[in-house]
Amino acid sequence: MAHSDDTRTQNERSGGLIRKCLFPVAGYGTRFLPATKAQPKEMLPVVTTPLIQYGVEEALQAGMSNMAFVTGRNKRAIEDHFDVTYELEDQISGTSKELYLKSIRLLIDQCTFTYVRQTQMRGLGDAVLTGEPLIGNQPFGVILADDLCYNAGDGVMGQMAKLYEQYRCSIVAIEEVPAEDVSKYGIISGDEMDDGLIRINGMVEKPSIDEAPSNLAVIGRYILTPDIFDILRATPKGKGGEVQLTDALMEQAREGRVIGYRFKGRRFDCGSIEGFIEATNFFFEHVKPAN
Ligand code: UTP
Repeated sequence: MAHSDDTRTQNERSGGLIRKCLFPVAGYGTRFLPATKAQPKEMLPVVTTPLIQYGVEEALQAGMSNMAFVTGRNKRAIEDHFDVTYELEDQISGTSKELYLKSIRLLIDQCTFTYVRQTQMRGLGDAVLTGEPLIGNQPFGVILADDLCYNAGDGVMGQMAKLYEQYRCSIVAIEEVPAEDVSKYGIISGDEMDDGLIRINGMVEKPSIDEAPSNLAVIGRYILTPDIFDILRATPKGKGGEVQLTDALMEQAREGRVIGYRFKGRRFDCGSIEGFIEATNFFFEHVKPAN
């Protein structure tokens, strides 16, 4: 809950349009078993900070202070992380260790956190639709915390929030990936607009190299307009028997209402072991040295 005296959200204070960010965190994280047997993969730390905290920090920096989580079983640690831990805080209060909790206390003080459970893993599209009661009828950000993004200036979601002010349509972050990796992503096609922007006219979920319309992959950062919920309700199961967000976005793209944005910064695929190790080394050296 927000504890500051000024009850307006940071986004309201900064005049931003997007106040809420959705975090689908219901996945099983099977690639990290056994580590994820009894704890969410989003709580795995890169150096000392859990993946989900990086995501929330990025959303807050973008002016969104309302954090909405679509959770599942085994995800209670996420709720506990964004809450006060009285015994621990009492124990280290007044000692030099108090500093270690500064970053998370800041988030607890400045953000609100809401939760809803996805009862079955029916795919990312279904997870987003499950979040509808937390979002309502307004544009919102979506962060997949296992895509860890870093930029020295504005974070990726912040860059996208600025673009939204201008274009007022759905925006997805895109990145070039090697041809052999296209089958792991949603791949887009479209027409170049301004520098770094593409008006999307085609999207395919996890295509083979032959089917892929380009090597531009959608990564885990989205700004969505709320009509996506109605579209998702009508979207049948797609690739892998799951309700795919890509399929719903394609409906908007048919009307020219989705922009692909080549973001500034680096992205680490922390859903994979290699990406996670790479992020750990990068953050240890350049961003967040250990306590
Ligand atoms: P992934 O398929 O990459 O995540 O989903 P996963 O299932 O947790 O990982 P592995 O493959 O088993 O290791 C991408 C994102 O979408 C969320 C996941 O939590 C992850 O952040 N997701 C996916 C849901 O919340 N619900 C779903 O039904 C599917």
